[in-house]
Amino acid sequence: MIKVQIKDAERFLDQKVSTLQGRVEDVHDMIRNKSGLGNDFLGWLDLPVSINQEELARIKKLKEQYKDLDCLVVIGIGGSYLGAKAGLEFLKTPFKKSKPEIIFAGHHLSANYLKHLLKYLNKKNYAINVISKSGTTTEPAVAFRLLKQHIEEKYGIDEARRRIFATTDKARGSLYQLAKNEGYERFVIEDTVGGRFSVLTSVGLLPFVFAGIDVDGLLNGAKDAYMDAQTPDLKKNQAYLYAATRYLLSQSGKDVEYLVNYEPRLTFFAEWWKQLFGESEGKNHLGLLVASASFTTDLHSLGQQIQDGKRIIFETVLNVKKTDKLTIPWDQNNLDQLNYIADKEISYVNEQAMLGTKEAHVDGLVPNIVITIGKLDSYHFGYLVYFFEIACAMSAYLLGVNPFDQPGVEAYKKNMFRLLGKK
Ligand code: PA5
Repeated sequence: MIKVQIKDAERFLDQKVSTLQGRVEDVHDMIRNKSGLGNDFLGWLDLPVSINQEELARIKKLKEQYKDLDCLVVIGIGGSYLGAKAGLEFLKTPFKKSKPEIIFAGHHLSANYLKHLLKYLNKKNYAINVISKSGTTTEPAVAFRLLKQHIEEKYGIDEARRRIFATTDKARGSLYQLAKNEGYERFVIEDTVGGRFSVLTSVGLLPFVFAGIDVDGLLNGAKDAYMDAQTPDLKKNQAYLYAATRYLLSQSGKDVEYLVNYEPRLTFFAEWWKQLFGESEGKNHLGLLVASASFTTDLHSLGQQIQDGKRIIFETVLNVKKTDKLTIPWDQNNLDQLNYIADKEISYVNEQAMLGTKEAHVDGLVPNIVITIGKLDSYHFGYLVYFFEIACAMSAYLLGVNPFDQPGVEAYKKNMFRLLGKK
């Protein structure tokens, strides 16, 4: 399970977080009654207890059918990419490649990356999962055009068609049309589930199944988070407690939330989190600026600024309770002067680094929230996904913005299309 500690944040506020209980209950009802802004996009809310079992079974069958693949290329951007990538990093054993290796494409427009990817795939046994809810996004469309040509040349049109799996809208968009015409295996992103809330659909589940992740454990975690979020009681609902605390911190003049970890496997999880909160709340000139740091690495780069720069920051620490056991060896010569921690667990040293950093940052007027999880396994990944999704909905509604649209994203596209001469 998850524990949220707000003591070192609340001391910077001039009101108790519990004073928000009434507003939290109103927003909770608004979410449940689907009466808030963007309520057409609440399809993710019940996903942990309404997973599309037919699709999941089909994904597992596909994985069996293609068990000898070297690579699965997953094409997508934003919500059609970040959740799967975050999950794979969260659950990855360092230095061990999954079989098949999951490779991402379509999440930028780098010719350098795509050219080398095509070359890399020449000698690989691979399949493609192209993901786009709208089916019209430029970055994945460009990557897919290149990869479609490559896979067709490599395997012939018929076999290529069997090796391409499309995850998209059930009835609309260019990708839907293309997939239908070509007869690709199709998976559906429901209208009611926005991209950044889609990890628990086939968008995330297909790459997870292919990477050999314990998807049932992941869904159990999400289900427990779902159950824990049924009550609006701030004493029990840890996701709401986090949301309410960050809301009050933002109201008290803090502009930046740093999501901080002490485990490198969480680095990409923070990218998913940044999209979730940044794209959901950053509108109408409102919302916290979301940033992330991986400690202790970044204590040697960003640490100075967090400790001593502009006082507009607060930190949310993702703390992992249980990690691998490894002790620091004794050294007879002690030239590195580390014998004072010889025989200590590295996780113990890391924990002291966390406690020491927290104390220093709090002394430096950086409020601190700690979110503690048991360990880095599929259960906790699933739990955290739902935890942050429901926290994000609460947080955005407290702020008074629609959590589920992203009108600002269109501005760059409009200019890019004009510059490219798109009709
Ligand atoms: O959260 C969102 O809705 C966005 O980040 C989208 O996921 C992203 O723009 C990709 O869109 P699509 O899946 O339609 O290609």
